[in-house]
Amino acid sequence: MNNFKALFYILAFSLFSLSCANDSQEDFQEIIEIDVDEDMIPVPVTYNNQVSAIMMDNCTRCHGIPLTNGAPFPLLTFDQVNNRRDRIISRMNNAANPMPPTGLLSNSVRAQVQQWIDMGALEGE
Ligand code: HEC
Repeated sequence: MNNFKALFYILAFSLFSLSCANDSQEDFQEIIEIDVDEDMIPVPVTYNNQVSAIMMDNCTRCHGIPLTNGAPFPLLTFDQVNNRRDRIISRMNNAANPMPPTGLLSNSVRAQVQQWIDMGALEGE
């Protein structure tokens, strides 16, 4: 590299550093707007969002009012379901003695109930 070229590089580099150093703060405070796709925000698993519907679809025809087919208690309200959540998930996953008695529900339905419990068994809005 000849001297002239070297000088040029040094000058260019200094100018570059200076221009960065002089950047006003505003440049760093640019407001970043991100388009948020509402569908991409995970809906928290709560009783009201998912679990209630799962009970209505699969359980309350026996665990309802009136109780039918020998079901011992209703599963119609948050308290009724929440108070028995451990037994509920246990029987929902019990292939030998499942709830509903007709057989295991899909993995995804059972996973939602499990997730509801794991996330703190929230009632939701
Ligand atoms: C066809 C009627 C019927 C349906 C549908 C049904 N159950 Fe039951 N359930 C019963 C009967 C009868 C019993 C009592 C006998 C037994 O435990 O197997 C029972 C008992 C239970 C028990 C208490 C027994 C224990 O092991 O603690 C739980 C919890 C339960 N069911 C949860 C559910 C859930 C959750 C669903 C839906 C995913 C459901 N059941 C759907 C009839 C039903």
